[in-house]
Amino acid sequence: IMQEDTYPYEVIQEIADFIVKGSGMRPRIGIICGSGLGSLADIIQDAKVFEYEKIPNFPVSTVEGHAGKLVVGNLEGACVMAMQGRFHFYEGYPLAKCSMPVRVMKLCGVEYLFATNAAGGINPKYMVGDIMLMHDHVNMLGFAGNSPLQGPNDPRFGPRFPALVNSYNKDLINKALEIGKAMGIESNMHVGVYSCLGGPTYETIAELKALRLMGVDAVGMSTVHEVITARHCDMKVFAFSLITNKCSIEYDDKRDQEANHEEVMAVAKNRQKACCELVSRLIREIHAM
Ligand code: 6GU
Repeated sequence: IMQEDTYPYEVIQEIADFIVKGSGMRPRIGIICGSGLGSLADIIQDAKVFEYEKIPNFPVSTVEGHAGKLVVGNLEGACVMAMQGRFHFYEGYPLAKCSMPVRVMKLCGVEYLFATNAAGGINPKYMVGDIMLMHDHVNMLGFAGNSPLQGPNDPRFGPRFPALVNSYNKDLINKALEIGKAMGIESNMHVGVYSCLGGPTYETIAELKALRLMGVDAVGMSTVHEVITARHCDMKVFAFSLITNKCSIEYDDKRDQEANHEEVMAVAKNRQKACCELVSRLIREIHAM
């Protein structure tokens, strides 16, 4: 682990102070906008915007479709902070750097992390445009010996050996299911298992078959390391995947089902409204608690 890629508690504290002082707000809910889901940040009111390059010690994101700014403001009466643009392992950042903003959120006062992503549907029941509420994950990068928590542990964030069972808050999943019903999209909503791979390649058919055997319902390139970092510092986590493409496991599939970034972005754009409504309504319920 390189020195320049580690973020001591004091550095995270400085970044958090910069945001809290600069915005004059203390957010309670953190949102990470997935690919094509940047509008989750656009609906924030009285927004104070911080471009990543203007935040001291903050990395900058390089992916098309990911903006690169932090938005602090009000959503449904609650004070929130949203990342429009996240950091991915395939950009070359170590996982601790990818999920460093989650610790910034924590020290800003955030109690709830809402993480969203665009993902490929492995479960054959999943259709393009469906929403999968995450209730568990398979951490493929973890299987390969990588973790955002590698290196010395600072107990001010959390324990050396954190448990990850029940990482995805059950009450929030149940509330989201109720909201889905009220929105009339319950048949396009699932509860399932997400797996994060390193990317930037999409999966081979053999890999997709292996993931399916492991019980994975949707696959992507993010979120898991953010959830690990959030659970380490005891945040409540809610996460969902927007299914932007179906993963075919047939070698001679006649349909054109090769995943591509343009399709992912187009589907996300189409489903932004539903995703925004789900997040807004869930935040309204949390704020009322
Ligand atoms: Cl098919 N795979 C991965 N790894 N990430 C995705 C995806 C597929 N579709 C959207 N994001």
